Amino acid sequence: MKTLHLSAQNQNDIEQAKSLLASGELVAIPTETVYGLAADATNPEAVKKIFAAKGRPANHPLIVHIGQVQQLSDWATEIPEEAYTIANAFWPGPVTLLLKKSPQANSVVTGGLETIGVRMPAHDVFNELLSSGLAVAAPSANPYKKLSPTSASHVLNSLGGHIAAVLDGGDCAHGLESTIVDLTQRPFRILRAGPISAAQLSRTLGEEVCSPQAHNVAVPGNVTSHYQPNTSVKLVDIDHLPEVKGEVALLHYSPLPTDLNVRTMKMADNVAQYAHDLYRALDDADQWHCDEIWVETPPRSDEWVAVHDRLGRAQSKL
Ligand code: TXA
Ligand code: MG
Repeated sequence: MKTLHLSAQNQNDIEQAKSLLASGELVAIPTETVYGLAADATNPEAVKKIFAAKGRPANHPLIVHIGQVQQLSDWATEIPEEAYTIANAFWPGPVTLLLKKSPQANSVVTGGLETIGVRMPAHDVFNELLSSGLAVAAPSANPYKKLSPTSASHVLNSLGGHIAAVLDGGDCAHGLESTIVDLTQRPFRILRAGPISAAQLSRTLGEEVCSPQAHNVAVPGNVTSHYQPNTSVKLVDIDHLPEVKGEVALLHYSPLPTDLNVRTMKMADNVAQYAHDLYRALDDADQWHCDEIWVETPPRSDEWVAVHDRLGRAQSKL
């Protein structure tokens, strides 16, 4: 299959993306977090193609993306009032609500689970695609367990030939996937750290939302080894670097010791820019074909939780 490289600057290309989705094809689309691999969420045959293209196990649930808050009740049922409070505060934006699945939501989307993740992305192009009332199922547009793409070229390098098209809308603003908050049981809890923090959600609801470190939830898809480049990753302390053996790439944000025999890439020291750049930096370092990628351990403060989560999974051998 030839993968079309469509431009989000071009209205004809946007129309073509819409008609590909309507005819049951897969289109990779930019969101404010990462590129999503979209299929019409009401078409189970189209949704099955997502699992095939990614090599993703069929029991790993997908997030449904909607363009209007009223669509929430098409996909979820027994929706607590707090879901609307969060939606009003943060949608369109990078937070996914985990709710009880409505009976009409196809279980291909939820991997057979009784819960469903729904979000409204904050991206003009994505929202234009959804303006007709369409809802799309969209995981990150990467092969299973690999790095999520934050640019169209990254999508083409990893899924080119396996999907109908990528709609190029430039780089993604956040660079890390949405926060997932489970509203199906109390206390509410975060299942995946992301751009919206537990503290922000707690303030908005006026009750404590548990942060991801406070529990350890096993759901299909929440796997320990994930977000991985092909080269193995190791987190390092810049003041106590391990002995260099072979070729090493080092992603760092602090000043480096002199006469270090490694290939280096400078990262930002503020979390927004660091998160924006992280997957691209790991992907670029992968192209150097070193024996290892070392990553300077980021600060431990709360705002870096999502970055630590992704780096921990990038480094895991489990
Ligand atoms: O920012 C994002 O959320 C991106 C963009 C494209 O929207 N999407 C994304 O999807 O990261 P994906 O499939 O790569 O990651 C979704 C995660 C998976 O770990 C999956 O297990 C979890 O969400 N998830 C989805 N539905 C769930 C459910 N019903 N119960 C528990 N976990 C769920
Ligand atoms: Mg993913």
